[in-house]
Amino acid sequence: MERNRELNHSAPVNHRTSAAGEFYDELPLWSARFGQLILDQVPLRSGMTILDIGAGTGWLSLELAQRCGAETTVIAVDSWEDAMQRLARKVDHLGLRNVRLLVQDAAAFDLPDASVDLIVSNLGINNFENREAVLQACFRVARPGAELFVTTNLVGHMREFYDVYRDVLRELGLADQVAALESHIHHRATIDSVRSQLESAGFQFVRAATHSFRERFVDGSALLRHYFIRLGFLPGWKEVVPSPDVERTFAALERRLNRVAAEHSELTLTVPGACIQARRG
Ligand SMILES: C[S@@+](CC[C@H](N)C(=O)[O-])C[C@H]1O[C@@H](n2cnc3c(N)ncnc32)[C@H](O)[C@@H]1O
Repeated sequence: MERNRELNHSAPVNHRTSAAGEFYDELPLWSARFGQLILDQVPLRSGMTILDIGAGTGWLSLELAQRCGAETTVIAVDSWEDAMQRLARKVDHLGLRNVRLLVQDAAAFDLPDASVDLIVSNLGINNFENREAVLQACFRVARPGAELFVTTNLVGHMREFYDVYRDVLRELGLADQVAALESHIHHRATIDSVRSQLESAGFQFVRAATHSFRERFVDGSALLRHYFIRLGFLPGWKEVVPSPDVERTFAALERRLNRVAAEHSELTLTVPGACIQARRG
């Protein structure tokens, strides 16, 4: 989908329209925490072709399209149709003509070899089931010298939660599930694992920038009912125990998390993340 509307810098932005209200909250807070690492570091140049892999509702594509100006083209790729439809409405609303949308699996996008100057992916690499194929496709379309910036949360993510979960499993006599929990914890990325995936696809590692932030909740009951936790994390947490044990395990976990919160006046979870930069030599 190409957009052809001219962007007039003197046109006022009217916040009293329904579209302005709809799009004001343009990205999940979770995405923002990691995406800022990309915005802090990507090269900003006019005239680039930028690929945003796993763009979701496309906030990063829109930022880069606006920050790099009309001569730059941003190609947003995602297989999630509803999200891409929302991105298309945002592109219309903003009047951008330098954003292309590809509703496709990123392992199979239809782009020429060596045609892209910059590849970004915010929280994509940790979510792609076919990561190896996606990275190979990225390498194919990257021009020599093209840079790639990917963010991910890291092992160590929400360790305060997992420490309580481990104790609860032991208390309930679910010793086998402790091993399943450890493997769930360690399925997350490390800088070394991302580096080796990028190098296997042919990229050269340049550097990694790390950060850590806190997610605060009044207690475990609030945590387990939070929309984004239910969307992004709860299903994986529940898979650690067999279905007949899920209810009692999570009742005990909630009680235990609430006790921890009462001792500390709140429940605080630490989330380490990284932005890994690589280059096609
Ligand atoms: C955690 S979301 C991140 C979305 C967005 N980058 C952000 O910062 O909010 C991961 C995205 O990757 C997309 N995705 C997962 N596998 C994909 C694939 N093979 N090809 C294209 N997109 C994929 C999902 O549809 C989802 O939108």
